[in-house]
Amino acid sequence: MNVPFYEKLWMWASAVLIVAFLTTIVAGLTGSALQPPSHVETIDPTKVWNDPRFTTRGATTDGQRTTVVNVAMMFAFEPAEIRVPAGQPVTFRLTSTDVTHGFQIVGTNANTMVVPGYISQFTTVFPLPGEYLIVCNEYCGLGHHVMAGKLIVEEARP
Ligand code: CUA
Repeated sequence: MNVPFYEKLWMWASAVLIVAFLTTIVAGLTGSALQPPSHVETIDPTKVWNDPRFTTRGATTDGQRTTVVNVAMMFAFEPAEIRVPAGQPVTFRLTSTDVTHGFQIVGTNANTMVVPGYISQFTTVFPLPGEYLIVCNEYCGLGHHVMAGKLIVEEARP
């Protein structure tokens, strides 16, 4: 079969691109510990404030691991300030009372969508103490740009 030179060139160029894209996905999954949500838990978005899973908000710890419960709404996170220890696993549990929001802790790999009707959960470790900005990175309405919070990562107490 006679395939013209340019046809071959484009076939190989497409093949190289596909391999390059797949490589970035695998590198992201393994190297950067990125992962698709593996946890599906639903909630009635109109009853979040009375749901026992969300009545105690903020950070709680059992000494080994910390759980942070947070509600996203137009246009705030409740609570807006969260304190967690450095170097220990922190599990975030989030939901929305209205529309889809984002929850991104700038400068870390913590970043999830917060979708009404679902509980977003992920676990991460913050190795470095400091203050981190939390932003909503899904456009959620007129006040989207002011929707922010603060994460304070404290030196772990022995
Ligand atoms: Cu909430 Cu943008």
